[in-house]
Amino acid sequence: MLVAAADPAIAQMADVPAIVHYCAACHGPDGTGRDAETPNIAGQSGIYLRRQLDAFRSGRRRHPQMQRNVESLTGREIDQIVTHYSLLPAR
Ligand code: HEC
Repeated sequence: MLVAAADPAIAQMADVPAIVHYCAACHGPDGTGRDAETPNIAGQSGIYLRRQLDAFRSGRRRHPQMQRNVESLTGREIDQIVTHYSLLPAR
């Protein structure tokens, strides 16, 4: 994963699930959005996060970039993502 490897902060996340490295390219290793258009997701409610990911997947929530990001996630990866980001301290 080139994007993740190029970012030292992300490369340090040795103990987090691989899929989180992918999301962290935009949402940050600490769940803080990297630019003004990318929301912070650290400490967000797990139920809310799961609903948003489902909504992007089904097309109920439309955002071309995020819809592409979630389309191939497995159920296990979604569980890992929701656990990781919901347990981080909110920013
Ligand atoms: C290329 C950048 C990028 C990547 C990679 C990315 N996201 Fe996003 N994400 C965004 C942007 C931009 C938005 C804001 C979408 C909008 O305006 O509706 C967003 C929105 C979200 C939201 C909704 C937050 C809220 O407050 O409603 C969640 C949850 C989310 N992303 C999770 C993820 C997860 C999980 C991954 C990894 C599978 C991921 N994102 C990968 C850019 C990205």
